[in-house]
Amino acid sequence: MNALQRDLKKLVPLVESLGAAKADSDPHRQKFHVQPPVGWLNDPNGLCKIGDTYHVFYQYGPFDVNGGVKHWGHVISRDLLHWERLPVMLYPDEPFDCHGVYSGSALVEDGTMYLYYTGNVKHPGNFDYIKQGRGHNVCLAVSRDGVQIDSKQCLMYNKDYPAGLTCHVRDPKVFAYEDRYYMVLGARTADDRGEVLVFESTDKLHWAHSNTLTTPAPFGYMWECPDLFELDGQWFLAVSPQGINCQNVYGCGYFPVYGDWRGKCTLGEFHDADFGFDYYAPQSFADGSRRVQIGWMGMPDADYGNKPTVEYGWQHCLTVPRVLTHDGRGHILQNPVPELAAARGAAVAVPDGAEQAVSTCFNLTAAPQGDFSLRFDGGLTLAYQEADRTCRLTFTDTAMAAGRTSRTAVLDAPCRRLRVVGDASSLEIFLNDGAAVFSTRYYPAGSTVTLRTAALDAVVYPLHL
Ligand code: FRU
Repeated sequence: MNALQRDLKKLVPLVESLGAAKADSDPHRQKFHVQPPVGWLNDPNGLCKIGDTYHVFYQYGPFDVNGGVKHWGHVISRDLLHWERLPVMLYPDEPFDCHGVYSGSALVEDGTMYLYYTGNVKHPGNFDYIKQGRGHNVCLAVSRDGVQIDSKQCLMYNKDYPAGLTCHVRDPKVFAYEDRYYMVLGARTADDRGEVLVFESTDKLHWAHSNTLTTPAPFGYMWECPDLFELDGQWFLAVSPQGINCQNVYGCGYFPVYGDWRGKCTLGEFHDADFGFDYYAPQSFADGSRRVQIGWMGMPDADYGNKPTVEYGWQHCLTVPRVLTHDGRGHILQNPVPELAAARGAAVAVPDGAEQAVSTCFNLTAAPQGDFSLRFDGGLTLAYQEADRTCRLTFTDTAMAAGRTSRTAVLDAPCRRLRVVGDASSLEIFLNDGAAVFSTRYYPAGSTVTLRTAALDAVVYPLHL
């Protein structure tokens, strides 16, 4: 352990203990979503399961509610609903990661955790920190007990990446496939195009660039947080592209991959992963035979925010874990993990035209038959129009919105299934069995929210968490 790590190991728990009572007194504190004890959270990192324990890490800024230098926060769970906080796993305490332990992933082998991440380094000088002045290093931390790091090292510096790139090369996602290990890295080229670099290795330590995945025409200037996985025989490349035309500041979605991504292949049509205000940088992992994905319920550089929680010294949370499946036509379906059903209380019917106050922690299901609307406390409306299969989420109450306005999704098929998962300050809306999703933070005035339906018979279950 170096001297900086020794001090950070004392300082982080100290700022957490100073801020915890205030953060925990916030009525908008989430009940079953991963959130930081204090300070800032962004991307989920290092998702994995060892034995019967799920590990979730996240980009964590304990010293600054608006960001600050990134650490890896750590929580564990047995059911993906109840989370126990463990000490910070990775600190920015080495010359190769001193300006932030950025995003990355976990590979688990024989119970040992191999955490691959980006060490962010900003060299002093008059640099733009895009084309010059920044180190984005691939680093590896190894942990045998899943709680403490045994070793940390830098595996690749910018000089080890292919030519023609900026300094922005980050977010390693590592996985084993057939007889090798693979790593995908998000990159911004020198001519400002987003792409994904594929590296391979036989020993987890030495990596060789073996392929590059991109679109024939430029699609944004940077692809953050790549993920590459197979669902029912179809491979998908998930990325968070910056610089594309979309409803939010940055995009977030996936391409079906046709051909072998280790060699010649093409990326199919890009699909948005989410249509809400707050969804970015998701990561998935194989949980037995199912694939579970968690996203950040936030959006970088958005012109709206989370003032109500910032006032209590914390900001942002992750999404509910979702199971991914393939619809057989190049689309991914996302649905909350079935574990959530265990928290359901007795069903409450909310018939067409009714008004019903429910706990903000709820699960709503309905089977729409045509146009419908669903209002939350009179300040937020979800409205569907069958004629053009358009679903719109619109805030009309400024306190509830904290700057959010309206978002739209055009569905591929008429809306026949609706599911909403609510927590104290978030809504995740799943349409047509997860073919389209809206994830958003919202700030209802109390611990109950009044639902009002029009042309919709809904069933609501309070969630006991
Ligand atoms: C995405 C991202 C990643 C980076 C991390 C830093 O939100 O910008 O590309 O590794 O956040 O916190």
